[in-house]
Amino acid sequence: MSVRDDAIAAHGGGELVDLKAPASERAALAAHGAKLAAVTLNARDLADLEMLASGAFSPLTGFMGEADYIRSRDEMRLASGVPWSIPITLGVDETTTKAKSLKAGQEIALATEDGRRLAILKLAEIYKVDRKSEAQNVFGTAEDAHPGAKNVTSMPPYCLAGKLTLIEEIPGRTFLDYPREPRQTRAAFRERGWKKIVAFQTRNPTHRAHEYIQKTALEICDGLMIHPLMGETKGDDVPAAVRMETYKVLLDLYYPKNRAMIGVFPAHMRYGGPREAILHAIARRNYGCTHFIVGRDHAGVGNYYGSYDAQKIFERFEPSEMGITPLMFENTFYCKRCNSMASFKTCPHADEDRLILSGTKVREMLRAGDAPPPEFTRPELAAILVRAMREAK
Ligand code: ADX
Repeated sequence: MSVRDDAIAAHGGGELVDLKAPASERAALAAHGAKLAAVTLNARDLADLEMLASGAFSPLTGFMGEADYIRSRDEMRLASGVPWSIPITLGVDETTTKAKSLKAGQEIALATEDGRRLAILKLAEIYKVDRKSEAQNVFGTAEDAHPGAKNVTSMPPYCLAGKLTLIEEIPGRTFLDYPREPRQTRAAFRERGWKKIVAFQTRNPTHRAHEYIQKTALEICDGLMIHPLMGETKGDDVPAAVRMETYKVLLDLYYPKNRAMIGVFPAHMRYGGPREAILHAIARRNYGCTHFIVGRDHAGVGNYYGSYDAQKIFERFEPSEMGITPLMFENTFYCKRCNSMASFKTCPHADEDRLILSGTKVREMLRAGDAPPPEFTRPELAAILVRAMREAK
């Protein structure tokens, strides 16, 4: 049986993109890359490069050209019509384009801040964009208070587009014990014999609400992949290493070994609410998942999005063109009268019976050295969070 017979097609219906140069060609390409003009990538660019190179952003084969950029920004589709909700661009300023006299047709190297040349980009296009209107379209705001909008408006306006070849593994990748590329997770699912696989995106430590919706989804799937986003997040989110510890402990203690696994999602967080929910689902399809959890205020920040905007946006696409089924969950919480986890859909009681804590409130408690109640966070995980908060002081 070929790899594709037992796994879902990559997004767009084709093969998974693979932009990595074969090992046998790397030395020659590195020597070639050393002679090219180089552009320096920041941490978010590197995360995008990794997503592109591994096929997690299939069908993209490089940073977007202008036609894909405009249509994804304005209509949430690539120029080909395939759904794509957030532009993926490499921005440079005018000084760079002039100093290096960049022009279409030439090759350039993409490098880390300390000069390691990781990829070769065959420049197909250089075009100029308005980052403010990009932020407004994608996030519904261009305010600096929105962390995703701030990142976009701080990106330089010239976009470098074209086919990429990765010639060296991206440095600084963490948690390498866990699968982080679509080919690895697809192999892991095959090994386990899972056909219906649900992915759980998260940028937070696992709370009981997360566990409840994960396990509810697992009731109708063969396997669960907890898929924490491990690229850059905003400063006050819990650091990746601490979060990873909570996922590991939770899985060890409370999940059946043959039904749940952790994968690493190397993307950076955009806080794009509904549009990011679509991007998250598309990427999880590439990772080989058939189902994707979208709960309350998915990928939201502050009060920029309605609680269920990230669910409603799926109505804008045909299920067949998304190729992954969203599993939607209402706000879930512990209810004292139900004496269990519940949601607005299943619990008839009043707000005072429900234990609902905001992220801000939980952070305050942790900073004061107090563990959140066990109905909110399992004590084994609360202990990790309290300790991490203490050590960070
Ligand atoms: S996110 O930015 O990655 O979405 P988080 O890690 O908090 O943040 O959420 C992970 C997933 O769980 C998202 O799909 C989110 O909508 C969902 N979720 C988080 N908390 C709740 C809750 N109390 N009720 C329902 N869904 C929730």
